[in-house]
Amino acid sequence: MSTSTTNIESVLHEERIFAAPPEFSEKAHIRSMRELEELREEAERDPEGFWARMAEELHWFKRWDTVLKWEPPHAEWFGGGEINISYNCLDRHLTSWRRNKAAIIWEGEPGEQRTLTYQQLHRDVCRFANVLKRAGVQKGDRVALYMPLIPELAIAMLACARIGATHSVVFGGFSADALKDRINDAGCKVVVTADGAFRRGTEVRLKPAVDEALKHTPTIEACIVVRRTGSNVRMQLGRDHWWHEWMEAAASDCAPEELPSEHPLFILHTSGTTGKPKGILHTTAGYLLYAHLTTKWVFDLKEEDIYWCTADIGWVTGHTYVVYGPLSNGATVLMYEGAPNYPEPDRFWQMIERHRVNIFYTAPTAIRAFIKWGEQWPRKHDLSSLRLLGTVGEPINPEAWMWYRDAIGGGRCPIVDTWWQTETGGIMISPLPGATPTKPGSATKPLPGIAADIMTKTGEPVADNLGGYLVIKRPWPAMLRTIWGDDERYREAYWSEIEGVYFAGDGARRDADGYYWIMGRVDDVINVSGHRLGTMEIESALVSHEAVAEAAVVGRPDELKGQAIVAFVTLEGTRQASDELKGALRQHVAKEIGALAKPDDIRFTDALPKTRSGKIMRRLLREIAASGAVAGDTTTLEDFSVLERLRAQEEE
Ligand code: WT7
Repeated sequence: MSTSTTNIESVLHEERIFAAPPEFSEKAHIRSMRELEELREEAERDPEGFWARMAEELHWFKRWDTVLKWEPPHAEWFGGGEINISYNCLDRHLTSWRRNKAAIIWEGEPGEQRTLTYQQLHRDVCRFANVLKRAGVQKGDRVALYMPLIPELAIAMLACARIGATHSVVFGGFSADALKDRINDAGCKVVVTADGAFRRGTEVRLKPAVDEALKHTPTIEACIVVRRTGSNVRMQLGRDHWWHEWMEAAASDCAPEELPSEHPLFILHTSGTTGKPKGILHTTAGYLLYAHLTTKWVFDLKEEDIYWCTADIGWVTGHTYVVYGPLSNGATVLMYEGAPNYPEPDRFWQMIERHRVNIFYTAPTAIRAFIKWGEQWPRKHDLSSLRLLGTVGEPINPEAWMWYRDAIGGGRCPIVDTWWQTETGGIMISPLPGATPTKPGSATKPLPGIAADIMTKTGEPVADNLGGYLVIKRPWPAMLRTIWGDDERYREAYWSEIEGVYFAGDGARRDADGYYWIMGRVDDVINVSGHRLGTMEIESALVSHEAVAEAAVVGRPDELKGQAIVAFVTLEGTRQASDELKGALRQHVAKEIGALAKPDDIRFTDALPKTRSGKIMRRLLREIAASGAVAGDTTTLEDFSVLERLRAQEEE
């Protein structure tokens, strides 16, 4: 255990290690650690030369003049180049047999299926690009997309990219208020939506929320509505238009705009566990290059694969690894509209069996739900088509990792635990499945070209196994370019905490093998008697107890120790809360990681407050632990009743 008191201490021990399976490595794009190290060394020797060599894989209308102009904290990648993302994701595949390959296989929650080949997708994208033009959208305008997870969402994104409009996808689960704020922040001219979406067997109405939002969005000139559920909606004359009517009337050819490399591709507001959401801006060429390469490297895509990333397109994961990365590689992408437990908790496993899915990428929060629902659900299905599993979004505790490997991967599939952020645009730290030996709970090593490191608050290097701040020391092609409309906040949030480097806001440690272990957001660190502890490790210890399904740990002010540790715990289906169990859990943590980390207080609850992307909002739990009430912003919370229930439990 570390003795440092200025950094974040690491207390998690994990010794298991899994080599890449030889039969996987044989066919992989990158087959060994030696090949991977060679790429890393090439990138270290000459970063710009490396990215330039990689950029040859894309289609350029005009080649770049300079690879990188870096005026910290502003980067210009591939200056002088001209490119179009929709061309790279679509037109490029139409000159080969791929034109008749499935680009998107989609399932609606009620069970209907649609398949779009590259040729069909191209035609719809061209048409919708013409629809956008008809609605008055020009190069540089912003378009809000507030839609269900249906192919039309991907079509709308690619159509924006085709004509040089900047899209701002707002997750369909957000409220009218959140939509209004995001439309106004980006100054969107048009919004694309649907009547509604299906979720857990009921309709989530979208159009009424849009109507509400549009009362206070002066920049919106038109609203285009997909008919998805068929429910009754109010169409405002002159402003609202049906998608299918305008598509029918639109020409099916539309030349792609030849856009400068740094043309703004999209704005995406971070889900934000703290503070006001930030409009993260990504641009064209660097983002595409990185999405393309990381999809190929990390998911080791093969021509015949069926690839499924379960993320909603409303998150960056959906942007990069449902739409742009896979399509630019000519992959077949599976998309699913609804909930993982509809009609029953085996929907995902049923779909894997039905479509013979090969690559499956999901989030730890989902994996923990699967564990809670029980292994009988995956066991009912033939999952033998799977060859690779991935996770993203949070640290995955080693027990959940092992369950994923065994219950879903049949002990056969490598797991890629991928660390990245909305801001990084693509995966930064991850195993390559044919090369990197994996350790449960570690995202392993930075990808080639990514200069990650761990530092103290003052920018000093941190020795092996001591926790510190995760930073990136060199610009990378898919880095965010700024916060839309607030460059000052961009400097402050990412480039001022530690001099000269990108500050990710996560705590991490690196072990003696150079493997990274992400310890969670530094805002969540708890200070117990001068020891700074990451919440994730204590949570991981709690979850390794057989009675615990999920745990969230926060600090509460304590006169003696500075902060006391409070753990909010949900139990496995059949387990009952009791004082005895509280004692057992405290002992369990003491045994797993030491007395220092033993929770002072354990509270059983039936649910934890989460953002819609599944991140636990520890800020709210901190408030509840300290004062029993919540005063802060709760607009990104998924289920408000959780707070009520936590408060009620408080009063018991
Ligand atoms: C934050 C970024 C990147 C797409 C989804 C989330 C946490 C993400 C991991 C991982 C440990 C992870 C970090 C990061 N995170 N992936 N593999 N291991 N932590 O995007 O909403 O921008 O969140 O998610 O704390 O900073 P995001």
